[in-house]
Amino acid sequence: MNPSPRILGIETSCDDTASAVVEGATLRSSVVSSQDLHAAYGGVVPELASRDHQRLIVPVVQQALQEAGLERDALDAVAATYGPGLAGSLLVGLSFAKALALGLGVPFIGVNHLEGHIYSAHIAPPRPPFPYLCLVVSGGHTQLIRVEDGFAHTVMGRTRDDAAGEAFDKIARLLRLGYPGGPAIDQAATDGDPAFRAFPRASLEGYDFSFSGLKTSVLYYLQDHEDDAREALLADHTADLAAAVQQAIVDPLIDALRRAIAETGIRDVAIVGGVSANRQLRAEARALCAAADARLYIPDPAYCTDNAAMIAVTAFHKWQAGLTSPLSLTAEPALTL
Ligand code: KG4
Ligand code: ZN
Repeated sequence: MNPSPRILGIETSCDDTASAVVEGATLRSSVVSSQDLHAAYGGVVPELASRDHQRLIVPVVQQALQEAGLERDALDAVAATYGPGLAGSLLVGLSFAKALALGLGVPFIGVNHLEGHIYSAHIAPPRPPFPYLCLVVSGGHTQLIRVEDGFAHTVMGRTRDDAAGEAFDKIARLLRLGYPGGPAIDQAATDGDPAFRAFPRASLEGYDFSFSGLKTSVLYYLQDHEDDAREALLADHTADLAAAVQQAIVDPLIDALRRAIAETGIRDVAIVGGVSANRQLRAEARALCAAADARLYIPDPAYCTDNAAMIAVTAFHKWQAGLTSPLSLTAEPALTL
């Protein structure tokens, strides 16, 4: 078997049209076209997202091949995300990838988007050794996973309602900070006082999370102020509220990691997904790992949010494990780990 296959990866599960090429474990190119048309609606509009993927998929794939310096007939396999995600969006990348693999006569590799986020920790060195703990924190998912070699994962905990990124996005809207909310709260919190208000943290058994109570509590807190008082509060204390909300989201994530390191004895920790770009989360995770004598792996910010480099790298690990997919593979919007 070719030890350094050239694999094209495609990611279209939400609102980013992305393609990347790996040669073995080495990333050759990564192109992401983010659809900014959704900002005007305050969230992703599925119908518009799939139409934009249709428009962008060919140029994005062509650019990924060009930046890798490859003709398409040099590819050894084609990979794409098949779930979880928006059905219409997934179908664009998945159908394109299957058709390309069929036309080239090379294997097709379907990739679980969540495995893609996990393997974003393997895009560039230092790469975590197996087994390691992985916190997947994105707009759609919040899970703590024990990652073993050969795609044997154990989900130790997950959110019971909103994902961490979803909490950032929904609360940012309440604070009128715009969309996507995570980067907006991160930025707004820079000079804020996290102790301005103690928003609630859910305390659940094990490693599960819950963030919907926090969102409701911010809503009620704002509603408790009369119109003028609310305007004054938002005018004077947006930074403080952003910092307090950010702290209420980061605390349970860090607490779960602390307990998981102590309980499992695993000293390699990865944090992946869009929320891993959060500066407070990164700083606290660094401090935690330094205190626990653990090593922390957080991908370059470009690979924290959705991208195809993580899909191509996951596909390479699947190739090594002999895991290719049938062309009958269909989109699985509710796929889990
Ligand atoms: O992984 P991702 O690009 O897409 C999903 O698979 O969901 O994650 C997007 C999420 C959004 O909710 C966004 O608000 C959040 O990641 N995010 C952040 C930051 N940057 C992106 N959340 C907090 N702080 C950030 N700096
Ligand atoms: Zn994602």
